[in-house]
Amino acid sequence: MKNLKSKIKNICCIGAGYVGGPTMSVIADKCPDIMVTVVDINTEKINCWNEEDLKKLPIYEPNLEDVISRVRNRNLFFSNDIENSIKKADLIFISVNTPIKEKGIGSGKASNLKWVESSARQISSYAEGHTIVVEKSTLPVRTAETIKNILASSFKDNNKSFSVLSNPEFLSEGNALDDLLNPDRVLIGGEDYDSINALKEIYTRWVDSKKIICTNVWSSELSKLVANAFLAQRISSINTVSAICEASGAEVNEVAKAVGTDKRIGSKFLNPGPGFGGSCFKKDILNLVYLCNHFGLPEVAEYWEQVIKMNTWQQERIYKVVVSRLFGNVVNKKLAILGFSFKSNTNDTRESPAIELCKNLLNEGAFLAINDPKVKKNQIEKDLNLNESPDQDINFSEGGWYYEESVYNAIDKSDGVIILTEWNEYRNLDWDKISRITRKPAWIFDTRLIIDPIKVKEAGLNLWRLGDGNNR
Ligand code: UDX
Ligand code: ADP
Repeated sequence: MKNLKSKIKNICCIGAGYVGGPTMSVIADKCPDIMVTVVDINTEKINCWNEEDLKKLPIYEPNLEDVISRVRNRNLFFSNDIENSIKKADLIFISVNTPIKEKGIGSGKASNLKWVESSARQISSYAEGHTIVVEKSTLPVRTAETIKNILASSFKDNNKSFSVLSNPEFLSEGNALDDLLNPDRVLIGGEDYDSINALKEIYTRWVDSKKIICTNVWSSELSKLVANAFLAQRISSINTVSAICEASGAEVNEVAKAVGTDKRIGSKFLNPGPGFGGSCFKKDILNLVYLCNHFGLPEVAEYWEQVIKMNTWQQERIYKVVVSRLFGNVVNKKLAILGFSFKSNTNDTRESPAIELCKNLLNEGAFLAINDPKVKKNQIEKDLNLNESPDQDINFSEGGWYYEESVYNAIDKSDGVIILTEWNEYRNLDWDKISRITRKPAWIFDTRLIIDPIKVKEAGLNLWRLGDGNNR
């Protein structure tokens, strides 16, 4: 029987995704005396995590391969044996997916908690002795209560007991390892002093204890939603400014710099772009909106909803710009899409602005050559809900697309090049070569402000830059 006051020796993490994988790798690396097992219902995913060839890991994250090669099968294990991993664990992280509900009450707004619920049921069935259950996935406020209720149903069985903590993840993809190793803060929400200390003891192996903030569970859950809402709000704000700049002759980067040097405002998260993507921002704001409505605060709900409306507006605005610069017609035209992930340094495409833009352009009849350094063809097929076109060269089939590994092949014979993700690979392209291989008049659309406008123009290409007053 496990003892409540004993040190944590075995950790189980349910969910081997973008949060569970990197987070447990770092914990295993920093706590060699603790056995960490990551489990998932997706056996294929677990097999990929166990691949000898580290290039086949299911997620791409800079420096993750180094950590995995150090700790895997030392004290970090990826397993399909959910039952036994839960049984052995003193502490269990729930890191499962919580996407937006697609149907039923709260559809399009509330989180779908079916995976969280099923994790809680698995824990309730298999756990032995005292187990600390930590919610790590981004969850709507008061989910810990649901978890507690499900776990409580098994209290009467033998000698099980649980404490539930909230410990939201603030890592940003593409920078996950650094965010985990050097967090601005670690937030722990809970009531049970011993459990909080047990979790704290893990983090203090590498995080200064002054950075560990303890709150009640609800404050912890709400802080995660609010932090993401504030970050997303800054992006929507600067994106509205990009439109004002284009209309008025100002330059959005200059404005962002001038505004961001005010210490009270700060320079981070002021990069304009094609709209924010990723699995968190939209979902968390929608959760906040749902909560506000639930608590009878419709004005507050409307305020936050506007952040998402502006994000959608920015995405649609870029689509309309592309079509209008190509004389209002994209049929029989090839367009090169550079970047499909929602940001650089990740293979994640969840809520990527590329998805809606590509769908709109395909619907308009364009033929797309899609390139991304890390996103695979089958993921793009899933996201677009459309298979790759078999006839890649026959008159640029209307509304077709194909995956192109080479950037220059993607651009070859195209009428337009749309830069959607800020991958380093796209920063210093050979614009003279591009000018030779595109069909004139060719347009370059830079939605991330990563290319040198002078070089593009000197190469004889037309350029549209987000938030650039010279576009007029
Ligand atoms: C975010 C939060 O940053 C993180 O704390 C939380 O745990 C999960 O959600 P993530 O979605 O991985 O992380 O990436 P982030 O760097 O925040 O970018 C989100 C989106 O905003 C991306 O599409 C990115 O391109 C966009 N973005 C970000 C901008 O358009 N401009 C910016 O200045 C910053
Ligand atoms: P995140 O970005 O939050 O990590 P992901 O979708 O990348 O989200 O990963 C969540 C993982 O959780 C998925 O691999 C999914 O298969 C797994 N999962 C969901 N429900 C369960 C469950 N009940 N038991 C085990 N794994 C689960």
